[in-house]
Amino acid sequence: MPAYQEKCEILSKRNLYGQCYDFLLAGGKIADSASPGQFLNIRCGEKVLRRPISVCEIIDSAKAVRIVFDVRGEGTAWLAGRTQGEYLDVLGPLGHGFDSFEQYSRPLLIGGGMGAPPLLETAKRFGGKADAALGFKNACCTMLTQDFSKYCGKVHIATEDGSLGECGYVTDCARSAVQSRACDAIYACGPVPMLKAVAALAREFQIDCFVSLEERMGCGIGACLVCACMTVNSEDGQPSYRHVCKDGPVFRSGEVVWP
Ligand SMILES: Cc1cc2nc3c(=O)[nH]c(=O)nc-3n(C[C@H](O)[C@H](O)[C@H](O)COP(=O)(O)OP(=O)(O)OC[C@H]3O[C@@H](n4cnc5c(N)ncnc54)[C@H](O)[C@@H]3O)c2cc1C
Ligand code: FES
Repeated sequence: MPAYQEKCEILSKRNLYGQCYDFLLAGGKIADSASPGQFLNIRCGEKVLRRPISVCEIIDSAKAVRIVFDVRGEGTAWLAGRTQGEYLDVLGPLGHGFDSFEQYSRPLLIGGGMGAPPLLETAKRFGGKADAALGFKNACCTMLTQDFSKYCGKVHIATEDGSLGECGYVTDCARSAVQSRACDAIYACGPVPMLKAVAALAREFQIDCFVSLEERMGCGIGACLVCACMTVNSEDGQPSYRHVCKDGPVFRSGEVVWP
């Protein structure tokens, strides 16, 4: 699939909470060819390495791509300092995203924290068939819940301190959702311990499961090996290193060798 390097205008910038920002980027070719679960590699000021940020939503009518990100270090702090009307140097869309939308009729999307944004466009592609289980630390850092409500049947919320929705981890409320709805697939994104628990849940209920992994990245296009991760071939069980940036970030959960 082709990737493009474009100067993308920041059409709008919103602060969702604390250091979490929501940008809408104009991006003709990138918006036209992006799919859910792919990512953009964004040049951040003088940083040599671009920073990967997931496609959150594609707005076809505006030929625009929405991204949501948290400030983690200097690169994302630089990004957070940009304002509406400025241009970003963006490479994308990159990676192998979520797919098989026609194959499932009762999917559950499971997002933990910053794992929620890449699932929003995924929810849209299911056209109302998906439910979502979203987990956050507390009520102050919940995000996109109204957006998910627009595109999903039910949206289950869990917070670790119980300040919103169910008290506990998202995997607890995901388990109830899987049981009550007889889900036929799981699409998940979030921290590795969460994904590992989701993979175990999918194995227990024998449900197809797709997970989006995060690794530190260098080039973002399969040329430097920084993002290598160990996987096993689901058919013959043979181990092999794959690139999260090129072969992923989305893998079948059964292919991932969990730490
Ligand atoms: C495919 C992919 C999609 C992503 N999508 C999003 C997104 O939609 N929204 C978002 O907020 N973030 C996302 N990230 C994470 C984001 O890329 C990092 O937060 C960012 O690169 C940090 O850059 P920095 O210069 O601000 O911080 P740095 O100074 O580079 O790092 C700050 C801290 O973050 C850690 N870190 C850096 N990169 C990663 C990474 N890839 N995974 C885990 N920890 C990391 C570092 O170890 C360090 O502790 C994604 C990462 C990948 C690989
Ligand atoms: S980041 Fe360079 S190979 Fe993946």
